[in-house]
Amino acid sequence: MRSNDHFLFFSDFYQKVGLIMTSEIFDVAVIGAGPGGYVAAIRCAQLGLNTVCVDEWKNTRGKASLGGTCLNVGCIPSKALLESSENYFQIKHKFATHGIAAEGVAVDVPVMVARKDKIVTTFTAGIASLFKKNKVKSLHGRGTLLQQDASTKNWQIAVNDNGTTETIHAKHVIIATGSVPRSLPLAPFDNERILDNAGALALNTVPERLGVIGAGVIGLEMGSVWRRLGAEVTILEAMPGFLMAADEQVAKEAKNVFAKEPGLRIHTGISIKSVKTLATSVVVQYSDANNQEQVLEVDKLIVAIGRIPNTTGLGVSENALVLDERGFVVVDEFCRTNLSQVYAVGDVVRGPMLAHKASEEGVAVAEMIKRIESGEPAEMDAVDFNTIPWVIYTAPEIAWVGKNEQELKAAGIAYKSGQFPFIANGRARAIGETSGFIKVLADEKTDRVLGVHMIGPHVSELISEAVMAMKFSASSEDIACIVHAHPSLSEVFHEAALGVDKRALHI
Ligand code: FAD
Ligand code: NAI
Repeated sequence: MRSNDHFLFFSDFYQKVGLIMTSEIFDVAVIGAGPGGYVAAIRCAQLGLNTVCVDEWKNTRGKASLGGTCLNVGCIPSKALLESSENYFQIKHKFATHGIAAEGVAVDVPVMVARKDKIVTTFTAGIASLFKKNKVKSLHGRGTLLQQDASTKNWQIAVNDNGTTETIHAKHVIIATGSVPRSLPLAPFDNERILDNAGALALNTVPERLGVIGAGVIGLEMGSVWRRLGAEVTILEAMPGFLMAADEQVAKEAKNVFAKEPGLRIHTGISIKSVKTLATSVVVQYSDANNQEQVLEVDKLIVAIGRIPNTTGLGVSENALVLDERGFVVVDEFCRTNLSQVYAVGDVVRGPMLAHKASEEGVAVAEMIKRIESGEPAEMDAVDFNTIPWVIYTAPEIAWVGKNEQELKAAGIAYKSGQFPFIANGRARAIGETSGFIKVLADEKTDRVLGVHMIGPHVSELISEAVMAMKFSASSEDIACIVHAHPSLSEVFHEAALGVDKRALHI
């Protein structure tokens, strides 16, 4: 055996038994295995780059669990509970109109939560299998940028797992360390009475009275879950308006529909004065929109007032990694940080805090690294935030892509609009979900679609057609020319596009 063969033999042996030789130099080290990091790692490996992914997440059983916030305590578990709770709500309150009588319907929260946990475990284990299949090396522990070697330009990264540290080396580093919930100084999380998103997804009984601070995406989705299961939900929102990121007309429709829901109250324009945790409840004092002092006593309080970028223990100041004033890692349009060969993607950088945005950036950076390694120009198309869809999984669902009316007005862009209500759609009637509408906004002169706004049944699925239309620079007429199956909810989008040219047929 030649000496090089020895190296290969032992290298192979170490890899088989799962140990990383510290002398191995990876092409790419990804820090964080959420949808930004794990997708970046898989794409790097698919492109032939020798890739390691370091992640520190542990589940409540103390086991390493890949997938980050999204899989463990975000997108996937929240949608599992939204589905279960909606089924319960439908049986209890809506089946009678279909002529279906159901007696003795009861909810078993521990079973519901166990189902959600099983979905999570299946998916997080699925990431481990994908890593194995794609030959991504997976290391558990906290990754800290140590330094860049002055001569080789390789980065050293410490991986600390419960006090045991090993150092790995990589030419390129992708930071994908995500975000954590922002706490309210007056109401620190204890996940007993004052809950963050993880606590809100893990209750084992339905609270009689649930308070939510923040009428954002998490507040509305988590509030929906527990309201459908029978909680009296009160949401307190600081902003004067409701859902101010959405198109105003969509937000107005949502507020109207939610106002009719039994067991849900939403107060906007409030200011929290104090939060006291008692033995069996939480008391919130706040001033309302009219500056009147109010008191809300609840069994549990969810605080969902936004999320902050997570750079704890990453080695930010030691390496002079530049953050902005809100703590996000500063990157250019291609996700390059101020440090050479270090990139950052997902919630830890500017832009929407969405899983699909994180993944899209992860893929873009992987492909850029491949181009750099192949000696090609690094820069290609940057991720286009204008065609990133937003979905809020309430009932009715809310979804949009592109610009809304208030943004177009503010930018002085002349546009025309077409709108169609679900109530005039046969499939929506058959389903029994007739609230809401779809609105298409198109450029006044070119007819190019500038934004699509939806509120109604299954719009989380319908929005994809609008994203595709915008991605391919479609006009409203292009959509109007496409045959949509009848009867289907997608006909509402078709009719809205026809409506831009004042030729909707069924209204
Ligand atoms: P994360 O998913 O946060 O992953 C970061 C990973 O990095 C974590 O595993 C963390 O432990 C690890 N890490 C951090 N620092 C280190 C370190 N130094 N060393 C090693 N590992 C480290 N988005 C949607 O698009 N659709 C939804 O329906 C949706 N629902 C949501 C519901 C809830 C309740 C919440 C909280 C969020 C939801 N989101 C949703 C947002 C989505 O979860 C995030 O946008 C997404 O997870 C961001 O991905 P990321 O890879 O940037 O970070
Ligand atoms: P958010 O930014 O969506 O909403 C936070 C809300 O809290 C805002 O309306 C804000 O005005 C309000 N607020 C802030 N401070 C307050 C205070 N002191 N008192 C009362 N209200 C206050 O943030 P949220 O809901 O925490 O979610 C974080 C992010 O996670 C979202 O922005 C989204 O990017 C992502 N997410 C996405 C989901 C999806 O795609 N369906 C689902 C859940 C989360």
